[in-house]
Amino acid sequence: MKILVIGSGGREHALVWKLRQSPRVAKIYCAPGNGGIADEAECVAVDVKSLDSMIAVASQIQPDLTIVGPELPLMLGLVDEFTRRGWRTFGPTRAAAQLETSKSFAKEFLQRHRIPTAHYAICDSSEQVRDALPHFHTPIVVKADGLAAGKGVVIAKTKDEASAVANEMLSGRMLGEAGSRVVLEEFLEGDELSFLVVSDGERVAPLVAAQDHKRVGDGDTGPNTGGMGAYTTLTIVDDQMRDWLLTHIARPVVAGMKAEGAEYKGVLYCGLMMTARGPMVLEFNCRFGDPETQPILMRLESDLVEAMEASIDGRTSDGDFKWSNDAAVCVVMASGGYPGAYEAGKKITGLEDAAKLDGVRVFHAGTSKRDDAFYTSGGRVLGVTARAAELETAVQRAYGACAKIGFDGAHYRKDIAARALKKN
Ligand code: AMP
Ligand code: GLY
Repeated sequence: MKILVIGSGGREHALVWKLRQSPRVAKIYCAPGNGGIADEAECVAVDVKSLDSMIAVASQIQPDLTIVGPELPLMLGLVDEFTRRGWRTFGPTRAAAQLETSKSFAKEFLQRHRIPTAHYAICDSSEQVRDALPHFHTPIVVKADGLAAGKGVVIAKTKDEASAVANEMLSGRMLGEAGSRVVLEEFLEGDELSFLVVSDGERVAPLVAAQDHKRVGDGDTGPNTGGMGAYTTLTIVDDQMRDWLLTHIARPVVAGMKAEGAEYKGVLYCGLMMTARGPMVLEFNCRFGDPETQPILMRLESDLVEAMEASIDGRTSDGDFKWSNDAAVCVVMASGGYPGAYEAGKKITGLEDAAKLDGVRVFHAGTSKRDDAFYTSGGRVLGVTARAAELETAVQRAYGACAKIGFDGAHYRKDIAARALKKN
């Protein structure tokens, strides 16, 4: 079969790499893809902000299955439009994707269905912010309602700061339309967990859980990013906790969406905070996580295409995924300046040496290829990923590979999975 993958990051590289292992796949196209993906799939130019452009690409290719990496095409209604045209597509409809595209929708949905989440207030004006603030303790989390590419959340230390940030968002100056409504939220403490399931609209099949590292600096310091690294192990959640998360979070979300007439198919990414009061939902994503997908797929032993088709056809079952017991770790190498402004076009060295190391896979995110050499072309450049029986070995392998790779301005966190290693 012919598969079309939409997107251009490390997540899409990992998806292409895994999909290629399916005996059912004859050819993979990736639109637009990146320098590294071009070695494994045929990359096709596309504007992922334009539904018409994505429809034009699919009309040319006539894919048997389309898989969407990023959230924007889902928000634009890609699944609705492709499905209407008879192209089998894995993912949620535009209505179902509101769980990610509108934080106020997600919060009200969680409350309606009594799914644990932080206390919140939805505000459309500075008057509403002023009236809501007395009901919160500091710090206060201020979130833009709409999609903001990881930049829509500010943790304010004081009420004055929360008020200033909320008003800046509401004015449209900070994030445009995405900030025209804000959600104020109680600050939660604990370990974050990315818990992903695949759903067919009724049933769910869990993926192994992972932990992301969102802040740019070691020790969780500095601004938030798209994610600087992630790991997954056999013991990151035990069976009992996994069952709890399925029973109290994933299944009620899927059942609630169905009851509300917006059946949820595809990947449901539950971003959780494991608090002293129990797990609570921080956010949903309606897609695979980046960089979590890189280490998660390193552990996947069953056929990803089968599980995606089961979701489309309404026959998902609990055991759709088979996993290795190994640990896997992804360290993101980023351009100098990221998550702020950065320069692109830096030559990347050492990729071949890194690839020779045991258990290592280097997934490309922001790279382009010219005359057999790779150059940086984005903020997050590479997802250096490694697998091993023990987490410690996987971490050593990933950092061993990072040490071989270089480009002008490269930076990466040195403490991915360090907290988990300390706990062991
Ligand atoms: P979100 O896009 O809602 O996941 O927020 C991005 C990041 O902000 C999360 O991954 C957390 O690190 C942090 N965050 C969001 N909401 C809260 C909260 N209520 N309490 C503490 N941290 C939060
Ligand atoms: N790693 C967080 C995300 O994919 O949104």
